[in-house]
Amino acid sequence: MDFENIYIEEDNNLATITINRPKKLNALNKRTIEELHVAFKELDEDRDIKVIIITGSGEKAFVAGADISEFANFSVKEGRQLAAVGQQHLFDFVANLSTPVIAAINGFALGGGLELAMACHFRVASSNARMGLPEVSLGVIPGYGGTQRLPQLVGKGRAMEMIMTAGMIDSDKAFGYGLVNHVVSSEELLPFCMKIASRISNNSSVAIKHAIKAINAGFKYDADGYSVEIDAFGNCFGTDDFKEGTSAFLDKRKADFPGS
Ligand code: COA
Repeated sequence: MDFENIYIEEDNNLATITINRPKKLNALNKRTIEELHVAFKELDEDRDIKVIIITGSGEKAFVAGADISEFANFSVKEGRQLAAVGQQHLFDFVANLSTPVIAAINGFALGGGLELAMACHFRVASSNARMGLPEVSLGVIPGYGGTQRLPQLVGKGRAMEMIMTAGMIDSDKAFGYGLVNHVVSSEELLPFCMKIASRISNNSSVAIKHAIKAINAGFKYDADGYSVEIDAFGNCFGTDDFKEGTSAFLDKRKADFPGS
């Protein structure tokens, strides 16, 4: 597959994937999600690659969310499918990858962008980064695992507040919440992540693979929150609030939600 929206750089045992749609603040459209799926799969199968870093191009954004222009007219069925395919091809795929994945959050990580960072095995942020799940301001809910992974990382109460307010938090708050492991300057972000990657690559990749599997197993509950989320996400596409929220965003005006 030829990559149009991402590029990959390899250096010894390390691969860095950069999402490269800076004019759209690296928003995740369908093609970018598929390119990321292929890139992660190929790098995971490459025995020489021990660690993967993912970041966004430009100074402004890691990823500003799923591409709103692509799903604004979706039906309930299409909304459900959007979440299901995205979770399967990218978000759960990354979370369960055998190769460690570090998110280098270099600016806005919103909606699907924060969900992608949360699907990575851990996160480092630049001091100018801002994070949030603003989906309810569009009349929808996080559909790429956000309702599950945010509470796992920051606790239920903080996740409830972040999701209900649709607000953003800065890097220092994210560090205090345990959402990111480190905060460094923009210039230091990639070198810092590479240093951690180099330490990881000194260890057994097989053991790390098993550790990832074991750690992830602790977060699989009997109740399948992910399925609940997919249904709930899909149902949002049948509401008037969703139509208003997405149209308002695309018309660059404030939403006036009918509440239905
Ligand atoms: N989907 C599609 N396009 C997006 C996008 C998204 N999630 N986020 C940003 N863009 C586009 C904008 O439409 C704009 O495109 P244009 O230049 O063709 O008009 C471009 O990226 C730059 O964004 P802009 O809004 O002008 O930048 P800003 O600095 O004023 O604001 C944000 C930055 C991140 C606050 C704002 O872009 C935003 O709120 N984005 C949506 C975040 C969101 O709700 N994500 C969750 C989606 S489910």
